[in-house]
Amino acid sequence: MSEALIDIVPVSDHPGTSRWQALAPRGVVAGVASLRPIIPLGPGAPELHVYVEPQWRRRGIGSRLLATARKQLAEPRLVADVVAGSPGEAFCQRHGFRHTRSRRHHLLTYCDVHRAWLGELVDAEHAGYRLTHWTGDLPDAPRIEELLRSPGRPGNALLTAADADGDPAAYAVAVVGVLPEPRARQWGPAVLPEHRGRRLGRWVNAALIQRLREVHPHVNKIETVTAEDDLHLLAVRQDLGFRLVRRTHLYELDDTLAPGWRGM
Ligand SMILES: CC(C)(COP(=O)(O)OP(=O)(O)OC[C@H]1O[C@@H](n2cnc3c(N)ncnc32)[C@H](O)[C@@H]1OP(=O)(O)O)[C@@H](O)C(=O)NCCC(=O)NCCS
Repeated sequence: MSEALIDIVPVSDHPGTSRWQALAPRGVVAGVASLRPIIPLGPGAPELHVYVEPQWRRRGIGSRLLATARKQLAEPRLVADVVAGSPGEAFCQRHGFRHTRSRRHHLLTYCDVHRAWLGELVDAEHAGYRLTHWTGDLPDAPRIEELLRSPGRPGNALLTAADADGDPAAYAVAVVGVLPEPRARQWGPAVLPEHRGRRLGRWVNAALIQRLREVHPHVNKIETVTAEDDLHLLAVRQDLGFRLVRRTHLYELDDTLAPGWRGM
């Protein structure tokens, strides 16, 4: 069957995410693409996912899906996370993406976590600091201080912070519902520079893990992504029992570097 008969059509079933299908005759889905925001805290380029069924590859379908996604971009940048040495990496290189980071993906499985041990970590005193939690739906470009001051409500995000005299010193965030499985995605922990060296990252992360289970008991795994050169954060992951599941390369496509970018 010729790829000229393939139509790229938008799909509108995921709020906040743009999705397309590459449809062959008789409704056969030859490939899919999506653009979704990746970083709930602060600005970030949307993440592109393209998948083409193996029997349809190397016929330009992935490139057509990418071209459609690029036309929809409200900003000049997008990123893609691909396994090193994979067709996805060759595809990104072919389309002018730049390798910006090497990353490690970890998974924490609740049934591997010893609850009493976790409880001890959370209960350990950190003089001058206090744990606080906030739940709700993350707004666009949220600010940690404002979230912690705002009333909590039911929602898909949980923010745990260690505060010192009312100001956040360290925090971590988990969001449920971004992944189809009963999994949460975690960002952080982040520790503000003047509060480093006091094991606050491990503390807020342990508290987040504990609280997440109370608020969303159906969640059985937590996923994280860490820059390969962030040795400190990798040590916290290992300490808390996160297992390495894969290594990837983050690629970025920056249209402002291309001739003719329309400007924003
Ligand atoms: C990556 C993927 C989307 C490419 O889809 P595709 O329809 O085969 O892509 P295209 O035919 O448009 O390929 C465009 C170019 O990318 C490069 N490329 C794609 N697959 C390649 C491979 N396996 N090896 C080497 N180069 C490859 C080539 O330069 C190709 O041009 P050419 O065929 O004229 O040589 C597909 O292999 C896939 O679904 N992989 C699994 C998911 C994935 O890794 N996605 C990452 C992107 S976000």
